[in-house]
Amino acid sequence: MSSSKVSMLFFLCSITISLVAVVASAGNFYQDYEVMFGDQHAKVLENGQIITLALDKSSGAGFKSKNAYLFGKFDMQIKLQPGNSAGTVTTFYLSSSGANHDEIDFEFLGNSTGEPYTIHTNVYAQGQGLKEQQFHLWFDPTQDFHTYSIVWNTKRIIFLVDDSPIRVFNNLESIGLPFPKNQSMGIYATFWNADDWATQGGRVKTDWSLAPFTASYRNFNINACPGSQGPSCASTSTERSAVGSSWKNQGLNAAERNRLRWVQSKFMVYDYCTDRIKFNKDLPRECKHSRI
Ligand SMILES: *[C@@H]1O[C@H](CO)[C@@H](O)[C@H](O)[C@H]1NC(C)=O
Ligand SMILES: *[C@@H]1O[C@H](CO)[C@@H](O)[C@H](O)[C@H]1NC(C)=O
Repeated sequence: MSSSKVSMLFFLCSITISLVAVVASAGNFYQDYEVMFGDQHAKVLENGQIITLALDKSSGAGFKSKNAYLFGKFDMQIKLQPGNSAGTVTTFYLSSSGANHDEIDFEFLGNSTGEPYTIHTNVYAQGQGLKEQQFHLWFDPTQDFHTYSIVWNTKRIIFLVDDSPIRVFNNLESIGLPFPKNQSMGIYATFWNADDWATQGGRVKTDWSLAPFTASYRNFNINACPGSQGPSCASTSTERSAVGSSWKNQGLNAAERNRLRWVQSKFMVYDYCTDRIKFNKDLPRECKHSRI
């Protein structure tokens, strides 16, 4: 082959490789997700643009992605049950399966009328959790859809609400701490009753006379590496400019660091890194490192 043919072939191959390497999905329920439990309580609307989950005394409902991913950016727009949502928990999370699992969680804990939802976040790495941070929100999450995102790359995990970072969990393998890195994770969303603990420590129970409760989800954006290709696909040295891959290097710029500080100083209501009672004064090692 002439050298121009060789380079053309190489060019075509690299286009193909970058196309298959990252799964970019504009988000349709039917394409990427399936109902996991509570069939009768899950309604897919508008040709797969929206799903609503209902909760009554008999059941809640949940859905999960058909595929598993290893690193990526995952967006979900959620509108929560308004009014008295005490006892209910609405979730959006990533999780691997099996022992020593990895997990990255958003959970929305309902409240009585007029009291704020709590956003609960957590990270499990090789089965170790106990890394909770909780927030209130600077808006009413029941009036409209808002975007909740998880950025998971080889260096860090970033939790975002409407593009504002609310939490960064850094990869500190350099000091021997586990980081979710070698297990692919599925995407899950559920709506269920947890009135034994969810609201004001379990004191406020679900009022079933108000059922069914509803949580709505839409805009199922996935920009991620397929589970089978994770580490090579997510490595930051390649495809820096590929469309939709900016999450691979994503950190926080100065404005985003300020925004994170604003959220954490005004809206954080629990931080495991300050919980000396739970950890018997011996705070987890990552707490001694900058979280930004
Ligand atoms: C990868 O995951 C397995 C299974 O959970 C875990 O036991 C192992 O320590 C991990 N290996 C590395 C290098 O992180
Ligand atoms: C519910 O409201 C109370 C009182 O405002 C607040 O302290 C609490 O964080 C809220 N969220 C939950 C889940 O209890």
